[in-house]
Amino acid sequence: MGNVEVWRRFDAMEARLTAATSERMLELGEVRQRQRVLDVATGRGEPAIRAAKRVGPHGSVLGIDVDASMLAMAQARAQAEGVTNLELRVADAASPGGAVPTAAFDVALLRWGLMFMPSPVAALTTIRGALRGDGVLVLAVWAEPERVPYLSLPRRVLSQFCDVSPFERGVPGTFCYADPDRLRADVEAAGLHVVHVEDRETAVVEVEAEDELVAWVMAFGGVGAAVRGLSANDRRAFEAALVRAVRDQGTDGALSLGGVTRILVAAPSRGGRGSG
Ligand SMILES: C[S@@+](CC[C@H](N)C(=O)[O-])C[C@H]1O[C@@H](n2cnc3c(N)ncnc32)[C@H](O)[C@@H]1O
Repeated sequence: MGNVEVWRRFDAMEARLTAATSERMLELGEVRQRQRVLDVATGRGEPAIRAAKRVGPHGSVLGIDVDASMLAMAQARAQAEGVTNLELRVADAASPGGAVPTAAFDVALLRWGLMFMPSPVAALTTIRGALRGDGVLVLAVWAEPERVPYLSLPRRVLSQFCDVSPFERGVPGTFCYADPDRLRADVEAAGLHVVHVEDRETAVVEVEAEDELVAWVMAFGGVGAAVRGLSANDRRAFEAALVRAVRDQGTDGALSLGGVTRILVAAPSRGGRGSG
């Protein structure tokens, strides 16, 4: 499979496998008809497009992202699914200019975006300002690397073949908020208080064929460049060891990798920074 083909195919698979996480976020935010919802770092429209369907024709969703090409994909998906109450704007959550109205939204969503932001507290402060007084933020981040095998397992296998540096925590990246205390502290620093936290398992890849698993790991498992640097023999041995390690996780049938995602619900603190 070529790169674009791999990407498209796995993109659809990931959307299907992670849909339940988006739905759970909407449930926790109590997203319903007529509401106004903000989806920050919406990427290809998750969970914005689902939220737009829930709020219905008398509600609306604003999705923002720094990456215009991601928003173009979100727009195409919205169109394909007949969603007309979603507006998409290119904006940096940390400094959105006039792109995000203040005190306007019932619910803000942020799935798997906060950890990549260079100024996450500034982004959370934008969200705090965008929420109505009784609004809520529902965000999702990844838990500790040990509980997120879709990234940690390929790396562990790779360490049999070359030096692999440990994941950096507390810097922008997948595990920036693996520490729940750090997440809570940053949420509170933005004038929000935490009302609920839960961990849930989600698969991100589930395939039948071993070569598909290898293709996915090379594209999305965070080890592609290092594996390409191995000798042909080591690369073959890596692929075999990877498949064995995934099978050893004990999932029946399909070859599957995923991890624990942490969902947090927060509400504006009275008198907190950004309140008003
Ligand atoms: C892993 S994707 C998640 C996309 C989507 N929310 C989802 O769950 O599928 C992370 C997204 O965060 C966006 N992003 C990163 N930093 C951002 C910022 N400062 N402001 C807005 N979007 C940002 C990226 O462009 C990317 O689309």
